[in-house]
Parts: sequence; C-alpha cells; structure tokens
Amino acid sequence: MKALVLAGGSGTRMLPLTHTTAKQLVPVANKPVLYFGLEAIAQAGITEVGVIVGDTADEIREAVGDGSKFGLDITYIPQHKPLGLAHAVVIAREFLGDSDFVMYLGDNFIVGGITDLVENFRRERPDAQILLTRVSDPTVFGVAELDGEGRVVSLEEKPTVPRSDLAIVGVYLFTPAVHEAVRAIRPSLRGELEITHALQWLIDERRDVRSTTVPGYWKDTGNVMDMLEVNRLVLETLELRIEGDVDEESQIIGRVRIEEGSRVRRSRIVGPAVIGRSTVISDSYIGAYTSVAEDCRIEHSEIEFSIMLRGSSIVGVGRVEASMIGRNVTVTPAPAVPHAHRLVLGDHSRVQISS
Ligand code: G1P
Repeated sequence: MKALVLAGGSGTRMLPLTHTTAKQLVPVANKPVLYFGLEAIAQAGITEVGVIVGDTADEIREAVGDGSKFGLDITYIPQHKPLGLAHAVVIAREFLGDSDFVMYLGDNFIVGGITDLVENFRRERPDAQILLTRVSDPTVFGVAELDGEGRVVSLEEKPTVPRSDLAIVGVYLFTPAVHEAVRAIRPSLRGELEITHALQWLIDERRDVRSTTVPGYWKDTGNVMDMLEVNRLVLETLELRIEGDVDEESQIIGRVRIEEGSRVRRSRIVGPAVIGRSTVISDSYIGAYTSVAEDCRIEHSEIEFSIMLRGSSIVGVGRVEASMIGRNVTVTPAPAVPHAHRLVLGDHSRVQISS
C-alpha cells in the first residue's frame, strides 16, 4: 500500500495565517500540521509516499526533505496548477501503479492517526473508503448523505444547502478502481477535477464505497477557536522536557516543554505548554494550552490558551487570552497620551480589544 499526500494549493481560502506560508505548514503545538499526517502514515506501516506539490514546492521540500526523518521514502510530484484532488490522482498514476493507496490532504489533522483505518481497509478492501465527521458548518466541505444502514448514497462538494452535517475528511482509501473514475469525470464549476465527483461516479457504478465516522478532526478553515482547540488536544499529550535555561526565580508547573536555546527568567509557566527554540520569556506568566514558537519574546506580559508563531513578541501588554498571533508580530503598549489603540494590521486580521 502507498500514500499520496497533497501539499499543493495556495491556501488563499484559509486566512489569515496562510498569506505567507503553505497551509500544510501551519503549526499545531509548534509542529507543522503536515508532519502529523506523515507520522500517521509511517505509523500505519506505509513507506512509499508521493507528495503532490504546487506553488509552495520549495517550502514543502525544505520542511519534509527525502522523508527519511519520518521513516518514509518520498517522491515529489509537481502539479503545475491546483486543478483538483482527482487531478492529483491522475498525475500520480505512474507513482501509484496498481497499488491500493491512502490519499491524505496535508492540511488535515486526524486525532488518533489512521492505523486502524488502514488495517481495516487492507482486510476488507472495498473499492473506496471515506472518512466523515460532524461539523457545524458543512458548506465549506464535501458533504455525504447516508442511508438507514450507513451506506453512502450521495456526495456533494461545498453545498449551499447541505443534506447532512457529515463532512468529508481529507483522508481517502482507494483501490485502483479510482483511476477509472478520475478519468471519467469532468471539471466542476470551480474548474477542478473533484475527488467527490469521482467517488459519486463509483457510487453510481454500484461500486463498494464505504464510510467511517471519526470524532477528532480539524482543518484550517480560518476559525481561530477550532485551531486553539486542536492545539489544546495535542498539548494534552505533551511530556515534560526542559532543554532551555530556566532560572531559579522561575516556576515550571505541570507538563511543559521548553526547547533548546530558550531562556526563562523570573516567570511562571503552567502546562501543558510548549516554548520553542531561542525564545526568551521574562517577568511573565504563560498559562495552560499555550504554544509559543521559536525566536519569540514575551516580557512583562501574561498569555494563556493561545498560539504564537515564529519571531513575534509581546512586551508589557498585560493579559492575552484565546489568541492567535502570526509570524513576526509585535504587540506593545501605546504611548500614554492620547489614550488610544494604535494598530498596524495585515489583511484579514481580527482584533478584539477590551476597553
Ligand atoms: C477538499 C475536498 C472536500 C473535503 C475537504 C477536506 O476541499 O474537496 O470534499 O471536505 O478537502 O479538507 P478543499 O480543501 O479542496 O476545499
């Protein structure tokens, strides 16, 4: 069995964090979301992996390399334009050969991995197997309709009036039957060859398309609370590890990971929380469920249940909560007079001010 990992696309639909980076590299607990997928594939016993790359190919290659750090053997497959998930299957035909495969969208996160699913698929070998999960806004996903016995009756891509709240998760298991389907379909209104349509084609041909409903799922739809929640779930599994330098006046409570080269001075950190490489924390409080990336600076501030990305600083601003802070962001107090907020915000930023 092989894996096909999709790491193309521009991420324009997932703002604001993906303006400047591949959406698959958005970090969860300081680790790119794509790494979780690659680790799940390796854990399921798959080693041959094709990675589809687009405009952000250089960034993805730099982050993933030849795959050896995950125990994988990676072949990069360039997709010149984001022409759809089924198009990715078309261009991966040579790599895939006649193997069964799992197709994994690199911006998706599945709590608990895919090992059981892959084992089950190997045993039962339906023509295709999809994963579903209940979501509050199905209009931004592919949506499945099931019959009384749980069989997939119909699939619709981003419906304005969804027939259910069961979203299609970005992990699909296929036998080579899918190759006929991706060749049979035509581009959708958005100009893409949709994998949803290929699956519908298989259903219409009375092929065996099964579904499993999974509970723990996330993808970046721009919803900050969802992202904080998945960050929380991953931090729940963190173990205490202190590699940075913590002075005697600081207090570390619970499961905290402090990475190499970071310094903690006169501060209190309550886990689960992770502090990235070369980050400096002084005279501050870091509360539970917080991920601070590398090269950050937190001084005379408090931050809790938040995510802070690389190269950002918060200095002397009191308490920050339930926040998502992008890369190279600076948060400082305004001058004393006039008593006003002073903001320089990028496109699609969202600010909530307590005053
Ligand atoms: C794609 C699929 C959609 C699925 C989603 C999961 O959407 O077309 O059916 O629900 O991935 O991530 P896209 O990310 O291309 O908008």
